[in-house]
Amino acid sequence: MGLIAAKMEPTAKAAVVEGLTQALAETAVTTAKAQNFHWNVTGMAFGPLHAMFQEIYEDHFVAQDTIAERIKALDGHAEGRMAKWIERSAVHEHDGYATDKEMVADMLASQETLSSTMSALCAISEEHGDWATNDLATNRVDVHDKFAWFLRVHLRGKPVDNSVR
Ligand SMILES: [Fe+2]
Repeated sequence: MGLIAAKMEPTAKAAVVEGLTQALAETAVTTAKAQNFHWNVTGMAFGPLHAMFQEIYEDHFVAQDTIAERIKALDGHAEGRMAKWIERSAVHEHDGYATDKEMVADMLASQETLSSTMSALCAISEEHGDWATNDLATNRVDVHDKFAWFLRVHLRGKPVDNSVR
């Protein structure tokens, strides 16, 4: 049975907050990296890549607030220091010196890391009956998987043929 925040045990809330804190850190670091790539990307695909990186950082910036406010609803402390986000994030900063393909590959890896972190948060929140966090995390898996697809196809040649003949 699902539980509302007020009915969750303190240890359950702490476990979910820990997962949310990881998600917040990685979302924040990836926000900054997407804006960095939006500014510094070069090449003949500048226009669409500039726009795609903007779509990513705008989505992630809104998500940071959603994640942090779920932490607050669970009586946790929302970490707001960039140094702490960088310290715990499995997504790492980038100096912005890279080719367009290198940026796409790096952002693809970042999105896959975020999908994994959100997927782990799905499991943690389900274990504790926290459906609200579960819904948030499930939605984020979907978003990061979608951005990963956008990025992945930039690196491919002809479409993969999955049909059975
Ligand atoms: Fe801009």
